[in-house]
Amino acid sequence: MNPTKPATDLSSESASKTTRDTLSITDNRTGQQIEIPIKHDTIRAIDLRPIKVKPDDFGLMGYDPAFTNTASCQSKITYIDGDKGILRYRGYSIEELAEKSTYIETAYLLLHGELPTKSQLADWSYHVTHHTFIHESIKKFIDGFHYDAHPMGMMISTVAALSAFYPDSKDIFNPESRRKQTYRLIGKMPTLAAFAYRHSLGMPFVYPDNDLSYCGNFLNMLFRTTEAKYRPNPTLERALDILFILHADHEQNCSSTAMRLVGSSHVDPYCATAAATAALYGPLHGGANEAVLRMLVEIGSIQNVPAYIKSVKAGEKLLMGFGHRVYKNYDPRARIVKNIAYEVFDVMGINPLIEIALECERIALEDEYFVKRKLYPNVDFYTGLIYQSMGFPMTMFPVLFAIPRTSGWIAQWEEMLLDPEQKISRPRQVYLGSDLRGYIPLDNRK
Ligand code: CMC
Repeated sequence: MNPTKPATDLSSESASKTTRDTLSITDNRTGQQIEIPIKHDTIRAIDLRPIKVKPDDFGLMGYDPAFTNTASCQSKITYIDGDKGILRYRGYSIEELAEKSTYIETAYLLLHGELPTKSQLADWSYHVTHHTFIHESIKKFIDGFHYDAHPMGMMISTVAALSAFYPDSKDIFNPESRRKQTYRLIGKMPTLAAFAYRHSLGMPFVYPDNDLSYCGNFLNMLFRTTEAKYRPNPTLERALDILFILHADHEQNCSSTAMRLVGSSHVDPYCATAAATAALYGPLHGGANEAVLRMLVEIGSIQNVPAYIKSVKAGEKLLMGFGHRVYKNYDPRARIVKNIAYEVFDVMGINPLIEIALECERIALEDEYFVKRKLYPNVDFYTGLIYQSMGFPMTMFPVLFAIPRTSGWIAQWEEMLLDPEQKISRPRQVYLGSDLRGYIPLDNRK
């Protein structure tokens, strides 16, 4: 049945017993019956609107705080089956991409829908690489922050500031302009992140080295000191690249939703990306990797794990890095991350916190509290351990999520802009406040 077909009022019709892709609803307040189309296992909330008690009623709405059962868009970018633990970008499994692709190729895939040919990949890499420099004045913003400013705060502000440097980015319905902002955003995010990091250390900024890979150059901007030419360790470079692939997109999560929602006002993509980065900063989202490390440090030793788990079960704390809105099974990214951890430890030495993490996982996977709620390790449970071993301070962990997620955000933003069904996002509310009342002059108030 056509999902755009208006709802049919069946009050006067006898309901057919034949099978069809519709939902019949009886409003027991009035006896009104309607039949609405079902497509892709969804009904359109707007089809509920004709359900009214009185003709001048607004009509029935769905109430879904935190969007736990509401699809806000149709998408062709990322597929997740949370029960089976499946994640695919544009139809390619995350396992295969992590094994065979690179972040820069995966970013192309997310944005263009197909894997690039050799020449498309070369062209794409060239353009991203040649947009890694930032305007010298951006450095002045970074210089203005205190040495202990959180790098996510610096990222959010400086990404937003790019909007003021590229007024051409307002031309959002021009594909050429969108392409240019895409190169700039993907190219400049690592530079902004590395400059924020160097600022916190009081070290001079290291400019991009375009001979290096995307991740190799990022490591160069972060860690180069006196070397004439920085040569990244290939194991660490590849580990970071895989982590970037794993974080590139995750369908309609909090930050992608922020990107789409803010972008739906037709603001430029830098401002929308700043909003998405802000959403990612929270400890329930991209800030979780930092929170996991702080938790492992707080637990301190394997002996203290049972007591910590007890406090989690008592509702006093969360086991950070566990649970997911969509995954009710092991997060497929977490499996890959766990393997990478050992490759990084082979180079950098074992991170002693891994023992505590493994013990938390062991107990949690057997404990009824976690089993019943289907709480499994998510991507953030082990990433912090890897980042710490690679020499990143905890405050940089969410930044390492924001850089690769930028490609996913832009893909989601562009899909939203080009979707003729989308318009400015504007949810409804259920108003439960005071009815109309008269203004009381200040002197008369009790
Ligand atoms: N530790 C202990 N209990 C938990 C946890 C946890 N990490 N996560 C969920 N629960 C409990 C929760 O208290 C609730 O219990 P009850 O039914 O008794 O009230 C039940 O499990 C269902 O949880 P929920 O809060 O309704 O689930 P949600 O879908 O709203 O939240 C979540 C998802 C990821 C915000 C949540 O699991 C959480 O806070 N996890 C810790 C933070 C974290 O690791 N976030 C990273 C997510 S993955 C990276 C990303 O994509 O951003």
